[in-house]
Amino acid sequence: MSAPEAVELEVFRYRPERSDEPEMERYEIPFRPDWTVLDGLNHVKEELDGTLSYRWSCRMGVCGSCGLEVDGEPVLSCAAYLEDHLPGPIRVGPLRGFPVIRDLVGDISDFVAKLERVKPWIIGEGEGAGAGRGGGAAPDGAPDGAPDPGEPHRQTPAELAEYDQYSHCINCLLCYAACPIHELAPGFLGPAAIALAQRYNLDSRDRGAEDRRVVLAARDGVWPCTFVGECSSVCPKGVDPAGAIQRYKVTAARQWFSALVSGGER
Ligand code: FES
Repeated sequence: MSAPEAVELEVFRYRPERSDEPEMERYEIPFRPDWTVLDGLNHVKEELDGTLSYRWSCRMGVCGSCGLEVDGEPVLSCAAYLEDHLPGPIRVGPLRGFPVIRDLVGDISDFVAKLERVKPWIIGEGEGAGAGRGGGAAPDGAPDGAPDPGEPHRQTPAELAEYDQYSHCINCLLCYAACPIHELAPGFLGPAAIALAQRYNLDSRDRGAEDRRVVLAARDGVWPCTFVGECSSVCPKGVDPAGAIQRYKVTAARQWFSALVSGGER
């Protein structure tokens, strides 16, 4: 099939000052084999309709801000090529499960609040967040920047491997849009927040697992997940939130059983 000269984008529009009802609007854009859906939206914005609202920043799959649904699939719009969605019209909508503020822009404040609850940072021994971080000068004779052998936060490659994949999360929220439970049970902590909690729980430098346990092991923590696994399938960074959730379920069940046997309370 020869490449078309143009392709249509069918874009979700929601302009609350005009109507309570969203509508779909079609735009014809030039087809370029190296254009992504984000390039197409930028063409619309710059050449056809400056009122279109959407998020983006890096254009290189790093910032996580450009997540949209393209032909019904949650994707990074800066990584979704027009070529893969021919012949069109290519349907572009906001990520499912987030209240739409305007056009393709969803309200992610609920996710941000959930993320804060799991304390996604290193909690030091007996102190607040970030306490006890290493530093200090390089030892005598060592090149500048070499780790101090007394540095308490050095890690072996195996210790790094424990949490490394979870540190690749870019908070793009495709996993929430793909998760059927997130729509059914909005209180569910959700894939990215749990994966990021595990990123720190599994870090040998962290002492915050007990702080996070009260959130992760709560009714709306890991338990609503039914292990559909779509969150891991759509992740553009190869993170496995579904695996993180199942792993934490085992951890929480063990802790609960230990507490039961020892007569403690959980
Ligand atoms: Fe940054 Fe797409 S614009 S990830």
